[in-house]
Amino acid sequence: MRGKFITFEGGEGTGKSTHAALLAHRLEALGVGVLLTREPGGSPGAEVIRHVLLSGGAKPFGPEAEAILFAAARDDHIQCSILPALAAGKWVVCDRFADSTRVYQGALGKLDRRLMKALERISVGALSPNLTFVLDVPAALGQERAARRRDGGSPDRFEAEGIEFHENLRQAYLALAASEPERCVIVDASRTKGEVAKRIWAAVNSRLHPATAPFVFEKTPA
Ligand code: TMP
Repeated sequence: MRGKFITFEGGEGTGKSTHAALLAHRLEALGVGVLLTREPGGSPGAEVIRHVLLSGGAKPFGPEAEAILFAAARDDHIQCSILPALAAGKWVVCDRFADSTRVYQGALGKLDRRLMKALERISVGALSPNLTFVLDVPAALGQERAARRRDGGSPDRFEAEGIEFHENLRQAYLALAASEPERCVIVDASRTKGEVAKRIWAAVNSRLHPATAPFVFEKTPA
């Protein structure tokens, strides 16, 4: 692939969407072509599946069915959005990716490891992020931030889980990041937005050297 692939992971209220967007803008300011995207979703087909999953519509069918739907959404997102962008030399900045399935459905949903591996092989194949940020905050702080962001709105399927779920989620992310230190960078996201953004930018610069990325020519529609 010609471009680079950066993912943001972590529990609820860790600031993934904010920092993915800040990084995308910063890369664009350097002249790097960027696709800012998210999971579940990121392509028209996957956005439909996102709605089914986050509304809780798939919950009655059980965690296996949810994992299959996450994989179907990911497959569509990769084929329709991520691979074409990478092939064009863009940098793809993605709010959640396959680590979310490993943690939410695998570590916490306790799904069969062979099913998880098979789904990942079918949907993701050999694609792997060049860099993954795991944004880490204590579960209680994350829940507080997520509630503030909802501003009275109702929590989605996973936000509605209890504090124990969110604490286990945090530990599962930390364990995953520790098992792949060459790809994953843990960032203390309880710090200020500016400090977190600075840490992220330093890691992107030292590991991926965006200042030397080739210019991507964007065709304007006729
Ligand atoms: P968010 O995009 O607002 O974080 O919502 C996505 C929710 O879906 C979040 O609670 C995590 C969950 N999720 C999974 O359980 N598995 C996955 O593979 C992905 C991408 C998300």
